[in-house]
This record gives sequence, C-alpha cells and structure tokens, in this order.
Amino acid sequence: MTIQSSLKRLSGGLLISLLVSQGALATTAAAPAAAPVSYGVGTDTFHPVRAQHGMVASVDATATAVGVKILQQGGNAVDAAVAVGYALAVTHPQAGNLGGGGFMLLRTASGHTTSIDFREMAPVRASRNMFLDAAGNADSKKSLTSPLASGVPGTVAGFALANKEYGTLPLSQLIKPALDLARNGIVVNDSLADDLTVYGKEVLSGHANSRAIFFKADGTPYRQGEKLVQRNLAHSLELISRQGPDAFYKGKIADEIAGEMEQHGGLIAKSDLANYRAIERKPVGGTYRGYQVFSMPPPSSGGVHIVQILNILENFDLAKMGFGSADAMQVMAEAEKYAYADRSQYLGDPDFVKVPLQALTSKAYAKSLAQQIDVAKARPSSEIKPGKLAPYESDQTTHFSVVDKDGNAVAVTYTLNTNFGSGIVAGNSGILLNNEMDDFSAKPGTPNVYGLVGGEANAVQPYKRPLSSMSPTIVVKDGKTWLVTGSPGGSRIITTVLQLVVNSIDFGMNVAEATNAPRFHHQWLPDQLRVEKGFSPDTLKLLTEKGQNVKVMSTMGSSQSIMLAPNGMRYGASDPRSIDDLTAGY
Ligand code: GLY
Repeated sequence: MTIQSSLKRLSGGLLISLLVSQGALATTAAAPAAAPVSYGVGTDTFHPVRAQHGMVASVDATATAVGVKILQQGGNAVDAAVAVGYALAVTHPQAGNLGGGGFMLLRTASGHTTSIDFREMAPVRASRNMFLDAAGNADSKKSLTSPLASGVPGTVAGFALANKEYGTLPLSQLIKPALDLARNGIVVNDSLADDLTVYGKEVLSGHANSRAIFFKADGTPYRQGEKLVQRNLAHSLELISRQGPDAFYKGKIADEIAGEMEQHGGLIAKSDLANYRAIERKPVGGTYRGYQVFSMPPPSSGGVHIVQILNILENFDLAKMGFGSADAMQVMAEAEKYAYADRSQYLGDPDFVKVPLQALTSKAYAKSLAQQIDVAKARPSSEIKPGKLAPYESDQTTHFSVVDKDGNAVAVTYTLNTNFGSGIVAGNSGILLNNEMDDFSAKPGTPNVYGLVGGEANAVQPYKRPLSSMSPTIVVKDGKTWLVTGSPGGSRIITTVLQLVVNSIDFGMNVAEATNAPRFHHQWLPDQLRVEKGFSPDTLKLLTEKGQNVKVMSTMGSSQSIMLAPNGMRYGASDPRSIDDLTAGY
C-alpha cells in the first residue's frame, strides 16, 4: 500500500512531499537497542591506546606530544587543543594552519557543551559570480588555486576565543612549542614528504614565497628525514604570541596578507581581517539509541546530517543485520543519499540563510525518510533529486581530539581545504592561505572539488561563511562524555564520523576496531556507493544486486578518537589510514 503523507513544512518555509511506501517499511516494532559497549579487551582484534589521565589523538606525533605535555603541565583540554592546533600549523602544513579555519566542539567536565565557529569568511568584495568564467561556467582554478580562493582566515581568532573563554594558560605558553618547532626546524616525516612530492609541484612550486619554504635550493621539495626550518612562520608566531590575535587581524601579519592580495589580484583587505570574528554557537544535538550526540552546527553541515542519518538509522536494527552486511550497508547508504540531497538544498551560513535545523533533525522527519528506504532495492539518486555527476576530489583537512584529567573534552577539525590550501604563502608571513572559497556553490548544481552540489543557500556573498562538512563530534552516555571524534575527508567527513558512532554503538566495537573497520560512503550525487578495500566480495555482489553502483576506491578519512570508560580510563585510536599520526596520554 502506498500512502501519500501530508506535505511537511520545514521551518524554512519549503515544502517537502513525502511519498511513504508501506511496502518498503523495514522498521521493527520495538526500538532496536545498542550493542554492549566495548573498550578493548585482550581478545579484540585491534587495541586502543590507554591512559589514566589525559589523552591527545592527532594526525602528527610531534603535535600530539605537544598536547600531552601541556596537559602534564596542568593545562586543560582547551589549552592542549590550542597548543596542538598551533603545532600542526608547523608540523602538518598540508592542513594544519594559521591561514585557514575550522570548528571546535567542546564539552566541559560539568556537562556544558558548546562550539566555536572559526570558519573562513568571504571578503566584502566577494560576489556571487566571482568564480564563473566568461562563458558562465564554474572555473575551479579561480576557486582553488588563485588568490581569489582564500576566505578571511579564522584559526587565530578561534583559538584566541577558546583560550579566553575556556582555557587556563596564557596564549603565549600555548604558542611556544609551535614557535620552537618553526624556528629550530622539524624533521620532515613520511606524511609531509609524500604530500610535498605529490602536491608540491602542482600547488606550491608556482609561488616564490611557498617555493622558498618547502623546496630546497636545488628546486626539489624536502624529503623524509631532512630538517625544515620555517623562519618567517616563526616570526609570525612570535608576533601573535606577544601581541595576541591583533597581530594577525590588524597588525603586521594583516599587512602581509592584504599586501599579497593587492599585489596578485586577491580580495582580502585589511578591513576584512579587522572585521573577522570567531563565533560561539550552540551545537547541534540529537539522540541515538539512548546516547546523546553533539556535533557542529551550520555553517557546517556535519552535525545536522550526522544527527539526521542517525535518526533514520534508529528505525532499523543494524546490530542484528551485522557490520559489513549488505543490508546494513544498504540502509546506511540510502539514508546518506537523503541527507546529502537535503544538504544541497537547505544548508548554508545561518547568519545569511534560514537553515531548517529543527525539521531536518527531527525524529518524525527521519521516520518518514526511513519509511522510504527499501532494504532490498536502492532508489536511484535521480529519483531523489536530479543533479550532475561529480569529478574526483582531494581531502586534506585535519582533526584532533583531546581529553584532560578532569574529563573536559575537545574535538577540533580545521583546514586549509585541499592539500596546502591555495598554495600561496602571504608575503613574508610564512603563512599558507586557504582555498576555502571553493566550498561555496560557485554555480547552483555544479559540483565543487568534493563533488558536492549546492544551491542558493550556499551562494557566495560578502562576509558569508562557506558551507562545510567538518564534524567534530562528542557522544554522551549516561550524562558523561563517552566518545570524542572527528575526521578529515571533505564530503566523506560526515559518513566517516557516522561510522565511528555506529560501529561503537551498534556493532559494539572498541574505539580502535571502530576506527580500523573498512568504510563506505554515499553522497547522493554521484549515484555511487564508494567502498574501501576490506568488505567481502559477497557483500559487494549483494549490494550491486540491490541496485547500488558499488565502486572500490581509496581510503576515507583519518579519524582521531578518544573513548572514556566509566572507570575513568581513556581509550584512544588514531587512524591506520594515516602515517605519522599518534594517540598518546599519561
Ligand atoms: N573544506 C572542506 C569542508 O569544510 O568540508
């Protein structure tokens, strides 16, 4: 029997017609329960790192060590997170940054949960069609590798706000380790050497300032084991350390950024930098099988869609279907399609567009979507919403998680967007600039670098923040912080974090198992179920028979997660998909 449900009105005033096919119902009468929790016992396949007091998980071993030291010196999780963030700007310039932006989600030991939005902002001279060519087509060179690609950076303001509101140590103490690393040099690790080899030529070598930092006198990029000194970056760090964020937004560094823009046709002016503000925002919250889930609100789409997909999945007994079963993957992929379709329509900077947050994250809406999911048969994306196929992507963002001895927890995801951002270092600042303007919808319906399509809600406007997928996430069990997680991965961030949560809650995996398990992803357009190596060929065959367009592709994400047990132990896991990452504690 097919029932046409009543038209549902989302809070943005848009109408969604919901066709509810009762024949496709896969829900069970009693709400499916979560699996028993696992923290990692001797017989498990993968084992998390354990610590009794504080823990840091990041993509870079040196930055992790910086964070652990700050915790040992008595700093809280926010202090350690700020120090890690600054350190990554030196040790992991692919994504760690001062010239980019991101999001911090934090939950205090007393249960106050909040977030800091330090996403980049379009300069005042930005305009709707600035990334179109003469023929009116989106020109990705302009939005990715030109001086126009950069939004006004937010990282320095975000860390300063976090430090002021929630930190305990002086900012200068938190910047000092990064300053020492930039001044005295880092030993280039495999991760940086590999990325300099792969992306260096394409992204960095065309810019004299960037070449001077990351390439040697013989014109080749630094290699593993060699020492990389970043004197100009050290000077900028010293200025911020002495003068605070004003050095970046109003002082010498602002001069360097605005000068670079003026000289090469970029738009960021000193007044844009002076006008930048990091914003504290109420996180998106939801529940999943008795757990509370907090994540990043718009201008990230991450939290909204993680909660939305979890709400849909709550209607299915994933634990019974089993990890890696074709049925569980089918249900998750179908739920993802609906969420990404909504993303393209409704999500944008909430200071510019009305995002129908409540409607998108409501259990009732999720149930209506769940009722449209057929476990046996995939619905083609074209039937969900028409769109265009997408190109390939790059995904350099970075995430780190911190927990301190008192149980304060911080999850930070920040980025330059793609590897090394625009590749442009601002003047003599030593600071690489982002290419985050590509996350705007250059032209409705035209995919960005991640294959994501967007519309009006995410069109370029002066001072607007581009839509993101970054999803720093904290899960709470019985009123206590339980899982702190996040990942890079562009459009795949949402589904990577989703799988961390589902693997832990539904499949009873410990945090290392939940991290190591193979991942999959559907983003509605392209209509393709992207899977990592590691799933059974039988499962993939069954999924194909259900109508999924299965493609085995490269790995997704680099999650950095910490799980807290009721006895106070911290269990952490860095992602085996990255090299040189580390979880450590004390
Ligand atoms: N730049 C990728 C994102 O924010 O989702």
